[in-house]
Amino acid sequence: MTHKVLVLPGDGIGPEIVTEGAKILQCLQQEYGLNIVLEYGLLGGSAVNALGEPYPAETRRQARAADAILLGAVGGPQWDTLERPLRPERGLLAIRSDLALFANLRPAILYPQLAAASSLKPDLVAGLDLLIVRELNGDIYFGQPRGIRTLENGEREGFNTMVYRQSEIERIARAAFEAARKRHRKVCSVDKANVLEASELWREVIERVARDYPDVALSHLYVDNAAMQLVRAPKQFDVIVTGNLFGDILSDCAAMLTGSIGMLPSASLDAKGKGLYEPIHGSAPDIAGKGAANPLATILSAAMLLRHSLNEPEYAERIERAVGQVLDQGLRTLDIMAEGMTPVGTQAMGDAVVAALVGD
Ligand code: IPM
Ligand code: MG
Repeated sequence: MTHKVLVLPGDGIGPEIVTEGAKILQCLQQEYGLNIVLEYGLLGGSAVNALGEPYPAETRRQARAADAILLGAVGGPQWDTLERPLRPERGLLAIRSDLALFANLRPAILYPQLAAASSLKPDLVAGLDLLIVRELNGDIYFGQPRGIRTLENGEREGFNTMVYRQSEIERIARAAFEAARKRHRKVCSVDKANVLEASELWREVIERVARDYPDVALSHLYVDNAAMQLVRAPKQFDVIVTGNLFGDILSDCAAMLTGSIGMLPSASLDAKGKGLYEPIHGSAPDIAGKGAANPLATILSAAMLLRHSLNEPEYAERIERAVGQVLDQGLRTLDIMAEGMTPVGTQAMGDAVVAALVGD
């Protein structure tokens, strides 16, 4: 069966890093017979420029027809002054919602070769391997009503709605417990149940679902404490499950623990395992076009794509081994540079991974 993969380069450094990600998939095709076809589409600011909207109908058609999607990144200062519906970020939220990609898996893994890059002491992060499972289709990101209104006294007021349905909580809970079964069987659910009703229901539903997973240990933390624990003793965590907003914030925090946000991939999955894969760093407009961006997060996103959506774990492992090898060889892009290492650009890093794959 031929796997159909839609490639969305996006904005900023997106096109540069996605070129390297696609190169890896093509290498697996040529060298090891991976049966795949790549199609290209537009999302975000590049789509606004070409077609006037951040998630155009053509991209929607392509995305619905694909087995999996590889995305670079979206956004940049030139689009920040557009009205909200035209902003690149809206394109990303729209594709997540349109394809019902509700389960966002954000691993934070510390590569032993990069231990010195963390801002925490090496013993606090050595061996770190945690997974944030972030709900991606609900919460204050999508809740209605929302807007900016003018009160009777003439003062303006901005408002959003934090809302979670039972069914939404249930399905993300199951995704987290299932993920934990493939890891160390620990789930920590993060909420703000001491203040918010949406969290009160969240906790209740998580506890009910947990009864179906007696082999998985469940704990709860309030989000403020979770933020503190992440920088105090991050190795206490295995799987963290949380809502859209808290997950957005905590996943950036967790990423930084590894010292190399340029290394971390992510997956956003629907109920059937179809998914969108993207590096968790953004579009980095400041270094766009300079050939300096780290393509490894995108390359590792391609590995996640093979594992989770295409059910091709052996190919995923080949990529992950090859990335380990280039790090062992001392190759570093600027974001993960350390003394005595060889600085390389985006393309050279991609080529080195290809060489490692071919030599494997
Ligand atoms: C992320 C990003 C997005 C989010 C933005 C770009 C809409 O921060 O994927 O974490 O808030 O979800
Ligand atoms: Mg974010």
